[in-house]
Amino acid sequence: MDFYLDSADYQKITEYVEAYHIKGVTSNPTIIVKDKADILKLVEVVPKDKELFMQVISDEVEGIMAETKKLMSLGKNIIVKIPASPNGLKAIKKLKEEGIKTLATGIYSVEQALMAANCGAAYVAPYVNRICDLEMDGVKAALEIQKTFKEQQIDCKVLAASFKNLMQVKELLINGIDAVTISADLMEKLIYNKNTEYAVKDFVSAWKEYTGKDTLGL
Ligand code: E4P
Repeated sequence: MDFYLDSADYQKITEYVEAYHIKGVTSNPTIIVKDKADILKLVEVVPKDKELFMQVISDEVEGIMAETKKLMSLGKNIIVKIPASPNGLKAIKKLKEEGIKTLATGIYSVEQALMAANCGAAYVAPYVNRICDLEMDGVKAALEIQKTFKEQQIDCKVLAASFKNLMQVKELLINGIDAVTISADLMEKLIYNKNTEYAVKDFVSAWKEYTGKDTLGL
């Protein structure tokens, strides 16, 4: 399984991506605005050996294709996210015919994921929490997509996105999802558990009392 950081926060990217074996960074226009980031600076900050997913704004086929090529010209590690709208799917198909790998974003159902994969998307991004916001089961929807792709040997990865809590992430991870992209806040919760810190404090204080040292002293 692969972990991605869903962020355009330069500091968090630098802090997490190299240190924790994170496969890359995902962004969308809202994330870039929220983190007050700049596309060129984002490209510079993400290490070249890590994938960087960036999204188009245009919803016209020609516009999507032009923006995709422009984004891709910024770096070899860039993969373009295209919303799975009617024109988005047309663009995904044309780009695939040109040998360009894309991610179909904004996926809300297995049938939509299948259509995107059929048009040639290399990745689909089901929006787990946004599906839950519609009073449906976002985790189940993402797992259904994963199961269908696996059973039918469809060459398209599931990069689940839009999480509100770690329970949603956990359910996908233990059930074999290809990849998840999570916000810096959730990533922090995944990395840091205060109970681990308490346990470590107990070990160190016992050791210090016994040896007078706060290292193994070997
Ligand atoms: C991935 O990059 C998606 O665009 C993102 O996870 C969507 O998250 P949101 O539903 O919190 O906006």
